[in-house]
Formats: sequence, structure tokens, C-alpha cells
Amino acid sequence: MDFKNIYLIGFMGAGKTTLGKRLSKKLHRSFIDTDHFISEQEQSSIEEIIKNEGMAYFRQLESDTLNRIKETKNKIVSTGGGFACSSSNINIMNDTGITLYLQYTPGELFNRLQRAKKERPLLLNMQPKEKMFFIRNLLLEREKYYKQAHHTLYGESLKFIKILDLIKHNNY
Ligand code: S3P
Repeated sequence: MDFKNIYLIGFMGAGKTTLGKRLSKKLHRSFIDTDHFISEQEQSSIEEIIKNEGMAYFRQLESDTLNRIKETKNKIVSTGGGFACSSSNINIMNDTGITLYLQYTPGELFNRLQRAKKERPLLLNMQPKEKMFFIRNLLLEREKYYKQAHHTLYGESLKFIKILDLIKHNNY
């Protein structure tokens, strides 16, 4: 049986990659992390791509990546924090797959990002106050895209078992 791709979308630090890997194992579907995919294609880290080629170039790579992934099935796809934030990308994901938005408050994201091992290119060298301000503002801008997801998950509904239930219950 074929399943549509499941896209995990949301802000940096929402745990899209960790969740994607767990879902892929549990559901026996292959996993793509869009940042990892782009990095391999370009033979360069995301940080280097953004620094050397600019953000617009990186966003174009994200759209190109989606255009390839949308032709496939049975995948769990974890996306970079800005991946869903264009009308074209969110529409393509919604039309060809299932989208799950992992929603956290700015405060929760801040705490999660403070604890994260992975450095985020967008947050490099920011002091805590500045980081909190940045997260709050960027999330405000982005939620209009994130909230177009088929499902918005927050609080209890972010538990792994609940997400599995949601996928199974809906036959995704
Ligand atoms: C970005 C988030 C990052 C990565 C890039 C830009 C963003 O992914 O794609 O640094 O614009 O929010 P994560 O959400 O995995 O940190």
C-alpha cells in the first residue's frame, strides 16, 4: 500500500528531525531531512551555503528539493524551519502530502534551542534577550504558513504515541 508523504513543519528547535527519525523507524518508511538532503547535494553545510550564497539561494534549493520529494511517496520528511514559509511550498505539501505542524510557544522554543546541541545559522552569536526577541518575531511572521498544515499539534498532542495514533487513525 502506498502512503502520501508526511511533512513535519515548524520552527527551529521543534524537534522535527528527531520525530521524523522515530516515525520512520516505527512506520517502516524512509526518512528525508531536507537540510541534510540539501547539504549532501551541495557538498556543503547549511551554514556555509547561507553564508556564501545567501538566503535567497538557500530558499531556492529548498523549493527545488520539494519539487523532487513531491514526486515520491511513503516518506517521512522533516523540513527546515523556513521550508514551509512560502505559499508555494505549503500549498505543494498540502496538495501532495500530509502536513503536521509541531507548535510550541516562543518561550518553549527558546528553552529548547538553548539546550540544543546543533548550532542554528540564524541564531549565531545572539545574546539570550536578542534571541528571545528574534524567535517571537519570526514565529509571528511564520505562523500564518505553519497554521495552514493539515494538523497543528501542541501540548499533549505532541507526544509520540498520540502522533502515531493520529497517523494510523487517519490511514496516513
Ligand atoms: C532555518 C532553519 C534550519 C535551517 C536553516 C534555516 C530557518 O532548520 O533550514 O538554518 O529559516 O528557520 P531547523 O529548523 O532544522 O533548525
